[in-house]
Amino acid sequence: MSRSFLSLTALAREEFQEILTRALDGKRNKAAWGKPLTDKCVALFFEKPSTRTRISFEVAVVELGGYPLILTQNDLQLSRGEEISDTARVMARYVNAIMARVKSHSTLESLAAHARIPVINGLSDKFHPCQALADFLTLKENGIGKGAKLVFVGDGSSNVAHSLLIGSAHYGCEIVIATPENLLPSADVLTIAARLGGQVTITQNVLQAAKDADVLYTDVWVSMGEEAKAEQKKENLKKFQLNEEVLSYAKKSAIILHCLPAHKGEEITEAVFESPMSRIFDQAENRLHTQKAVLEFFLK
Ligand code: CP
Ligand code: NVA
Repeated sequence: MSRSFLSLTALAREEFQEILTRALDGKRNKAAWGKPLTDKCVALFFEKPSTRTRISFEVAVVELGGYPLILTQNDLQLSRGEEISDTARVMARYVNAIMARVKSHSTLESLAAHARIPVINGLSDKFHPCQALADFLTLKENGIGKGAKLVFVGDGSSNVAHSLLIGSAHYGCEIVIATPENLLPSADVLTIAARLGGQVTITQNVLQAAKDADVLYTDVWVSMGEEAKAEQKKENLKKFQLNEEVLSYAKKSAIILHCLPAHKGEEITEAVFESPMSRIFDQAENRLHTQKAVLEFFLK
């Protein structure tokens, strides 16, 4: 049975570190990758829009010697009611792995249960593990290591916050989530983070959270699929913004991260987004390097 990558719990701590090390080596020396995906086809399936995941995965597969097959929901008979379990079994007869961005995490679980090939999570409503790997690579290349303080300001129940919680436990850094009381991370994710030895604090006090932070991180207030409750979420999260006052509480050496796309003026101000402390575009670039390491690891 092949291994899938639906969340960071699929990796042991050592494997998580190994992927980051490999990604950093490959970033510094492109020739080190070789062509581990020669003669391999990877389906890249999207139920939701994407810029970074879509482009970085396609480029990663090509640069590793493989062939990427881009599929959207509307291209497939799924749009006419074919079952995901049947789709998974058919795809597995043609391709070597599936990267999927899905509305519901259960779709990934069903794909992984029925396709006897690796399934990689390119974002679900619950987790965004490929994003978190790029985030921790950005910490690593900035010399921010174990024991650092990573502060996430925004929707604590989001896919990005969930993956940062598990990633922080693997990475060995402290994580503080500043979020409203009605947007707490899901209890099962907090249980996993605790089991992995994670050092987690949840607070409603953004300024206190930001004190002496090494990393300030935010994500959109309204995730894809939440359009119907957009106004309610924006109202709920309006105090949970990365702005210059919040930044003034962090360490002078702190870096600013955002998974993108950004809604400037909502979760982050233009000034903070453009500040010299921002590593947001390095972080976006790192999606390419960590995904190469993920493809190599799960397709070996
Ligand atoms: N951060 C991220 O996953 O971006 P896309 O939605 O553009 O893929
Ligand atoms: N939480 C965001 C992340 C986008 C990369 C969303 O799901 O839309």
